[in-house]
Amino acid sequence: MRIDVVSIFPEYLAPLELSLIGKARQDGLLDLSVHDLRDFTTDRHRTVDDTPYGGGAGMVMKPEPWAQALEAVAATGPGADASAGAPAQKPVLIVPSPAGERFTQAIAHELAEEDQLVFACGRYEGIDERVLEWAAEHFTVRPMSLGDYVLNGGEVAVLAMVEAVGRLLPGVVGNPESLVEESHSDGLLEYPVYTKPSTWRDREVPAVLLSGNHGKIAQWRRHEQYRRTAERRPDLLEAFDAGALPRADRTAFADLGYDVVDGRLRRRPEA
Ligand code: ADE
Repeated sequence: MRIDVVSIFPEYLAPLELSLIGKARQDGLLDLSVHDLRDFTTDRHRTVDDTPYGGGAGMVMKPEPWAQALEAVAATGPGADASAGAPAQKPVLIVPSPAGERFTQAIAHELAEEDQLVFACGRYEGIDERVLEWAAEHFTVRPMSLGDYVLNGGEVAVLAMVEAVGRLLPGVVGNPESLVEESHSDGLLEYPVYTKPSTWRDREVPAVLLSGNHGKIAQWRRHEQYRRTAERRPDLLEAFDAGALPRADRTAFADLGYDVVDGRLRRRPEA
């Protein structure tokens, strides 16, 4: 996969040289470049922003440096050479913004299938909206939010999204099994984990995990997923397919205050 990140603070993206993502780049699994938006300006001051039409606080990012930068990264991307015959896949342009669609594990999986991702890091009040309209001719444009809070710019969001997508690329995570049993892989939060010693500061590891009974362990872990999700993220249970749950799992949900109605979990009204 090829990833291009455009930012006025390229140094902010330095952590992408570390750990799993850094290793994936070294191993040739991920071809990632960071570009300085100011390199695509033409004035002496390398200006990237201007005052907003209509007035108001802050500054808005000028459109032309963005168009120049995005044209340059698309022109050198894997889809640029259509001579191979197959229709070129448009690169995906991800614009981090609190006004974007919510980034999820499902979207990380979708993005991991793409040939080229381009991340456009906005700063100030954002990028002139016409850039997104224009870019739709050359890219699949996806404004994307990490969550309902405001960061100072897109760079931190890009670090998160590149890591979430990059670890799904074949060969990046050493043991692919670890991608299966983790939070959000099945619409639930992950079960709690423990390691040695079995007694630590008077606290015991749950006995079932020492029992060697793999069926019981799997069931306990599943029920812990239900308990945690009900407690911390009940919203996730609305989409959970409860149609084929074994009786013991229905009982576990009943103990948490949920009944199964038409294959969906329904919170029992408080008595
Ligand atoms: N830029 C500023 N806030 C953001 C957020 N919550 N998610 C993604 N990008 C952002």
